Amino acid sequence: MAISFRRRTLSRLFFLLLIALFVKILFFPARQSFQNKSKAHQIKEHNFIERATRPDRSLNVQRHPFLQSRMGRDEQDDIFSGLIRNGVRDYWERFQLPYILNKETSSMDAQHVLGAIDQLLSLNGWVAAHCPTLIRPFGQNTRLNAYDDLIREDHLYFIAIVIHSADHFLVDQLAVIVQMAKRLGTDNLFVSMLDYDSTDSTETLTDLCEAVLTLLGVPFRIRRVPGMTQDPSAAYYPLEEAYMRNLALEPLHELLAKRSIRFSRVVWLKGFTCPNDILETIKISFANEAAMVCGMDWAEHNGFFIFSDRWRTRDIEGDQFRQSKSSSKPDGVPPRDHQGALRYAQHLPFQVFCCESGTHVVDPAQSYYRGLAYRAGTDFQNLSRAEGVPVREPDAPCLDSSQAWFCRDLWVRSARDAMQTGDKPYYAAEVHRRDVVVEEVAAHDPLMEARDAVKVKLGGPAAEGGEEEEVDDNAADRRKGVGKGKKDADANAGSDYDAMPDEEGGGEVPPAAESGTLLIPNSVFRPARILVNPRCPTTYAGVSHTQLARDLFGEGDDDSLSATGKYVLDDWEGAPESFVCQEQRQTGGRKATKTQRRLGFSIHDEIQRLPV
Ligand SMILES: *[C@@H]1O[C@H](CO)[C@@H](O)[C@H](O)[C@H]1NC(C)=O
Ligand SMILES: *[C@@H]1O[C@H](CO)[C@@H](O)[C@H](O)[C@H]1NC(C)=O
Repeated sequence: MAISFRRRTLSRLFFLLLIALFVKILFFPARQSFQNKSKAHQIKEHNFIERATRPDRSLNVQRHPFLQSRMGRDEQDDIFSGLIRNGVRDYWERFQLPYILNKETSSMDAQHVLGAIDQLLSLNGWVAAHCPTLIRPFGQNTRLNAYDDLIREDHLYFIAIVIHSADHFLVDQLAVIVQMAKRLGTDNLFVSMLDYDSTDSTETLTDLCEAVLTLLGVPFRIRRVPGMTQDPSAAYYPLEEAYMRNLALEPLHELLAKRSIRFSRVVWLKGFTCPNDILETIKISFANEAAMVCGMDWAEHNGFFIFSDRWRTRDIEGDQFRQSKSSSKPDGVPPRDHQGALRYAQHLPFQVFCCESGTHVVDPAQSYYRGLAYRAGTDFQNLSRAEGVPVREPDAPCLDSSQAWFCRDLWVRSARDAMQTGDKPYYAAEVHRRDVVVEEVAAHDPLMEARDAVKVKLGGPAAEGGEEEEVDDNAADRRKGVGKGKKDADANAGSDYDAMPDEEGGGEVPPAAESGTLLIPNSVFRPARILVNPRCPTTYAGVSHTQLARDLFGEGDDDSLSATGKYVLDDWEGAPESFVCQEQRQTGGRKATKTQRRLGFSIHDEIQRLPV
């Protein structure tokens, strides 16, 4: 039953994509060739007349063909090129041309296209088809008009995807984009896809994405780039992450600079997430004016599901999340902090120090438009060079993921911006204290001794009393199993592929630092609004979505919480004074060795270090 359903969906999907590709080749063959190829991708500035009158800030692809572009595609002829060209010509000459006798009959083709578009808009993908049937708390899936107010607000959304040999997600992700375009409007989206050096069928599938998006009139830039280093093992993964993400964001900056188009939210798609869950995460992002809202990432493991992003996610106390099962008891849920665990159990959004966990929504006005970009540490050791281990101070910056850098930058920027704009202090109780502090910060030399005030104990792993990682036991076997014979072993593993293995100490949480040791506590600064929405699961292949939904949300009992109660967090914490730093100190690609320590975090110090 399931298999036949799947097969039917599959063949239907394949058929649709074939139509799309076909219509695209048929109707849009010359789009690239009559433009200068090396410039075809460039976003054009408003011309003189437009600037003098009312500049067109729409994302209308009919009016502005440059809004749909492809970069870095391998345009060389291959063995299929002739075959495809002949087939298209044959179809045109035998099945189309003879029936176009005059103006009236030619409109049949327009009907064909419209029909294909209609079918495409119902494109459900493999997993996406199940989304409406999955359990969600608060009747989110059953209320059809739940997102009408969001849709009426007519915001612009920038959807960013980085694909690195992960072709098996792409059709589902495309289905999600198509569904979002259907709900939010095709010219309210811009899709940026970056194919980073994929070696699987990603290239072909991005052709299909191009065809579908072209037909639907969704603006996009699909770009393929080679790897940063020839030899993948000479790469430094956090640097690659930063590079890929900044490239995917290029159209965001170009559209602002050249056409004054501002997006309200950037949606990073990773793995697979249901469209409704993304819409809800967007809603939470607006309701909280959040800088970033993440979903939660669940991967299959021995027949159950585990939280799977322990490299980049830290709770509001700076601790790692637990590798909990989706069915975990209240005392063993992913966030370790009390408040987070409490809210997680009620399926409510909770504040964190950092997250990524699959699909996440970023407010560019609080980040990218303020000059924030992804970055990574640079004093790593390049094993390909015969050089010694760089000398690093015990409190040298953490060489962790580019997302972790991004989170810290968000905290520091948020604090600094509040100081510069003279915003009212966040905590009423600290009004006086904060006024003093701000003056003090402004008056002090950047290199003041405040650094010495970080009296956080470094390193020294110690088992946390009574706390057990739930799925420790088979970790070694699992890691051996993954990667066996398969080139892209990370394909199905979720984000935990990037986490530090437990057997290398990744499961041990370094002891919390003594709090209250900072000269100027982090709590006086305006907090960054980074949230996790537990109602937005991101998943990977091999996950039974129905079971996962049941584990996470029970039978979906509807609590009588008001909309604001569900979405808005009214108490925001300051940054933790230390966090668990899992770092890659050496090159070696994604799986390079990681080490772990606890590192102090003083917003006041960081403000001095931050590049302006
Ligand atoms: C296309 O643009 C490139 C770079 O701007 C230029 O060198 C080339 O001559 C142009 N080609 C044509 C056919 O205009
Ligand atoms: C490491 O060194 C090799 C050889 O000089 C170089 O090709 C590679 O790009 C370097 N890796 C990084 C991440 O800089």
